[in-house]
Amino acid sequence: MQNSSPPSPPLPALASSSFNLRDPKSLLYFFLAPSLLFLLLFILFLSSSSSSPSHSRPDPYLFPTQQTHRIVYDNNSPSDPTPPSIAYLISGSRGDAGRVLRLLFATYHPRNNYLLHLDPFAPQAERESLALRVQSNPIFKAAQNVDVMGKADFVYPKGSSPLSFTLHGASILLRLSENWDWFISLNAGDYPLVTQDDLLHIFSFLPKDINFMNHSSYIGWKESRKLRPIIVDPGLYLAEGTEMFFATQRRDYPDAYRLFTGSSFSILSRSFMEFCILATDNLPRILLMYFANTPSSLSHYFPTVLCNSRQFQKTVINKNLVYASFDKSKLRAEPRLLNSSDFNDMVKCGAAFARKFQPDDPVLDLIDKKLLGRSPQTVVPGGWCLGEPGNGTCSTWGDAGILRPGRGSRRLEKAIVELLSNDTLRSCKCIPE
Ligand SMILES: *[C@@H]1O[C@H](CO)[C@@H](O)[C@H](O)[C@H]1NC(C)=O
Ligand SMILES: *[C@@H]1O[C@H](CO)[C@@H](O)[C@H](O)[C@H]1NC(C)=O
Ligand SMILES: *[C@@H]1O[C@H](CO)[C@@H](O)[C@H](O)[C@H]1NC(C)=O
Ligand SMILES: *[C@@H]1O[C@H](CO)[C@@H](O)[C@H](O)[C@H]1NC(C)=O
Repeated sequence: MQNSSPPSPPLPALASSSFNLRDPKSLLYFFLAPSLLFLLLFILFLSSSSSSPSHSRPDPYLFPTQQTHRIVYDNNSPSDPTPPSIAYLISGSRGDAGRVLRLLFATYHPRNNYLLHLDPFAPQAERESLALRVQSNPIFKAAQNVDVMGKADFVYPKGSSPLSFTLHGASILLRLSENWDWFISLNAGDYPLVTQDDLLHIFSFLPKDINFMNHSSYIGWKESRKLRPIIVDPGLYLAEGTEMFFATQRRDYPDAYRLFTGSSFSILSRSFMEFCILATDNLPRILLMYFANTPSSLSHYFPTVLCNSRQFQKTVINKNLVYASFDKSKLRAEPRLLNSSDFNDMVKCGAAFARKFQPDDPVLDLIDKKLLGRSPQTVVPGGWCLGEPGNGTCSTWGDAGILRPGRGSRRLEKAIVELLSNDTLRSCKCIPE
């Protein structure tokens, strides 16, 4: 639980590069200092000897230590396992602050961790206003689980910089919290199709080391167009993004390891993210250097590391739980924009997320209303919301360990059970095709 261990002190590197909700603490000290030095020393002594000062901890109503809270509100059967938690990296570009915030509301749960990012095309004012809007929200303040990256990372979608950004975001999230179990990276154009209570409920029954990731070792002409060219991503060496550099030569496929292709969306376990970031085994680092010169390397890197690692190749399920629709006639396999006509298919397929949507497309309102039960400008309600039904449901809160899964959890359960019950061997392991 978050309140049983003191929050880790903000990292020096992070303090300058992220707006943090724990700032009021330093402000308070600042005001106390001139007038009451003695009191200050006393408080400092208290804060270093006790676990931490009360205002730097998440609200104890959300994370009660005592079982008594649980009994008062808990409708779940006692055999239900403890809910897991998810770390979300949510990223957007210029003009995306509104979509990033909406996606945060739609995927919010006090148990999770969120790191928001706007790339360098967004002006600093937009980043600051996003941070202010996060900071002024009472529930984000109480749970202390939303951070905004103050310094932007360059993300050139067709190159390899998105991979470096994703690893950077994941490593910040690893330092921010010791508690999360899965990592999900979302773009401003993505949207959830189930509530967080649904998702956390279903995931609480899964082994914590499982990874959901589309992957294939089949390399046809389409894939070879992404794997053989040699590029240099401008984001890796130029301050301003320009066109990508293509070498005239092409390279052969490696024979020291096998390449796998996949999709840029995946749900990855904490242990696998630690494997990639700490890299005590050299494989993730070698592949990082290999993919530095490959276009769209984000969709190849994680499948290739996972499937070439003996430790992890048995933990992968060949499906990423995202609904996307591809225009087969187009050369570049970008998912097409979804609209209201896709709503029934999205619901039927039992996915947890869908991509991609236009800003404020009416289908998002339909998803909010029919699937998430969310009102505009409010977080998606869950078992922790104790207010009257309506806009203010989540302005009164209780134990974040209580989940109220709904119909979405049954859709997700059905999809995952089907996935596991079919030819498990074929769907779960990285079998070369
Ligand atoms: C992932 O694979 C499934 C089939 O297993 C496919 O339907 C889906 O479109 C793929 N998703 C992406 C984003 O590539
Ligand atoms: C949704 O998009 C498809 C193809 O892009 C189009 O044929 C359809 O008319 C659109 N539906 C609506 C409701 O806009
Ligand atoms: C919720 O808020 C919206 C505007 O933010 C308003 O139009 C709507 O009437 C409110 N609903 C309730 C039940 O208070
Ligand atoms: C699972 O098996 C059912 C029939 O048994 C089939 O209809 C379905 O397409 C299979 N799903 C996958 C993901 O292979």
